[in-house]
Amino acid sequence: MDIPRHIAIIMDGNGRWAVARGLARYRGHQVGVESARAVIRRAGQLGVEVLTLFTLSCDNLGRSEEELDFIITLLDRYLVKERLELQKENVCFRTIGSLTELPARTQRLLAETGDFLRSGTGLILNVALNYLGRNELRDACQSIARRVVNGDLAVEDISTEMIAEHLQTTGLPDPDLLIRTSGEQRISNFLLWQLAYTEFYFAEEMWPEFREEAFMRAIVAYSKRERRYGLEGNKRMVSNV
Ligand code: FPP
Repeated sequence: MDIPRHIAIIMDGNGRWAVARGLARYRGHQVGVESARAVIRRAGQLGVEVLTLFTLSCDNLGRSEEELDFIITLLDRYLVKERLELQKENVCFRTIGSLTELPARTQRLLAETGDFLRSGTGLILNVALNYLGRNELRDACQSIARRVVNGDLAVEDISTEMIAEHLQTTGLPDPDLLIRTSGEQRISNFLLWQLAYTEFYFAEEMWPEFREEAFMRAIVAYSKRERRYGLEGNKRMVSNV
């Protein structure tokens, strides 16, 4: 089976899953952590190189303070509780997004987790927090423009490779597969540049019910697709690193 090198996931539907069961929304987030745990483990076992999880968009910061605090606390606990397990699974940890707007404690735990798992040579777990694709592109434009203004770079020398290097995903292959759960079919400002040639898979399951079997269904569906990158059948072009 053709295993994607990089899988990106928009974990959607925690709140709806809970409300449909007469539970408070926070229960959906709690159970959603179990789905994340299951998918991370399975991705590592399958030899996936990178798993990017859209955990919090900048838009999510507009949620009620109570819900946001709950999600952040879940993440803090996950980082503390799972570190050893992730180390055993040989996971390497990194993040994308504007971390400086997160609580100081969360920023510290994220940095510590990154350091603790730095030597992991298996799955790269890339967690998107307070992330938006347009903000990432804006930041890349600003740093490239600064180099032009300083006289270090000619405008004609700005290349697509250079733009990719200025994104927070620098060094990672572009996603081969994007999964979004809960039946919604949009990308919600996620990895706008990086998804140029990505295969999309929209799962009907809500995130708390998206476990190993549903994950495998997505990968099997992906492995049956023919990726043409705009060329005629069977030709493949390496579009990224
Ligand atoms: C979407 O559900 C999910 C989130 C807003 C983020 C929270 C994600 C988790 C708690 C998963 C844990 C991940 C890690 C890495 C530990 P939603 O509330 O937007 O659902 P709705 O669309 O039904 O309201």
